[in-house]
Amino acid sequence: MRCRRCGGAAVLELRRHNAAFCAPDFLAFFRNQVREAIRRHRMFTHDEPVLVAVSGGKDSLALWDVLIEEGYRTTGLYLDLGIFDYSVESRARCEAFAAARGAPLMVVRVADEVGAPVPVIKEVTRRPPCSGCGLSKRYLMNKVALEHGFPVVATGHNLDDEAATLLGSVLHWQIDALARQAPALPATHPKLVRRVKPLYRLSELETAAYAFLRRIDYIVEECPFARGATSLAHKELLSRLEEASPGAKHNFLFGFLERARPAFERVEAATLQECTRCGQVTTGPVCAFCRLADQVKRAVGAGRA
Ligand code: AMP
Ligand code: FES
Ligand code: ZN
Repeated sequence: MRCRRCGGAAVLELRRHNAAFCAPDFLAFFRNQVREAIRRHRMFTHDEPVLVAVSGGKDSLALWDVLIEEGYRTTGLYLDLGIFDYSVESRARCEAFAAARGAPLMVVRVADEVGAPVPVIKEVTRRPPCSGCGLSKRYLMNKVALEHGFPVVATGHNLDDEAATLLGSVLHWQIDALARQAPALPATHPKLVRRVKPLYRLSELETAAYAFLRRIDYIVEECPFARGATSLAHKELLSRLEEASPGAKHNFLFGFLERARPAFERVEAATLQECTRCGQVTTGPVCAFCRLADQVKRAVGAGRA
């Protein structure tokens, strides 16, 4: 196998691109894809401070690494979900990454904001842990960004994440989710910050290779609650398709973004209002996060009484 760029010995074959790369040229390819994503969707400029949501996993740390290398003004945000050893370990990876690069990192504990960590939220709501967890993550990313003057939050969602989410939304014909699925979501309200996914053009294999070649120490384990999640089943299904027909995942996601998504876009902004409790944006009088926090605090309070 020869590198497509320099003809030297290749370390990685990318079947969907029908190409192979040596290590330096793969890193250049990777950075180019991120640059292309940022440029095409006008995600942010070099003058804007960017809040990078980091979980300690390969994708978000790879993202932070590229953005630092590219000279962006970044600050990391780690949300401590309080999920036993998994959270302790993933927080340590983010702190070590930030310290090694002299980059600022903010840590916010979900338990301080909601009243209990994710495992307790799961018990109280009797819903899959990922629902309360995902809700809290989206809410807190926006809140922290607003409070600290960041116009934009970047997450490490990759091509596989996006294709799996798309498949899930299509299987249930969740029209609202389809309308919201995009590499960049604009701020449709003064209290919403832009949300961007600069890795949406890169597969999980590619982000893993990048993290490996850059010697990023990331947490390999998945969240213990993720096991058996339907999103994993969707990922497996898509990977089987990809195996049989390289490029299938890419065509599924990009075909949607380029050709189908416009049909789902609707004007949402009209229904947005501010939560009467916390002031963040919601569609009803009290936002879902405040309702969750109420439920958790009541249950935890009752437990103590
Ligand atoms: P996930 O929803 O776990 O697939 O993660 C998708 C993206 O959300 C990651 O790439 C991160 O950018 C962000 N994220 C996930 N978990 C956390 C966390 N605990 N703290 C901050 N950001 C996170
Ligand atoms: Fe949210 Fe696992 S339940 S990361
Ligand atoms: Zn609220």
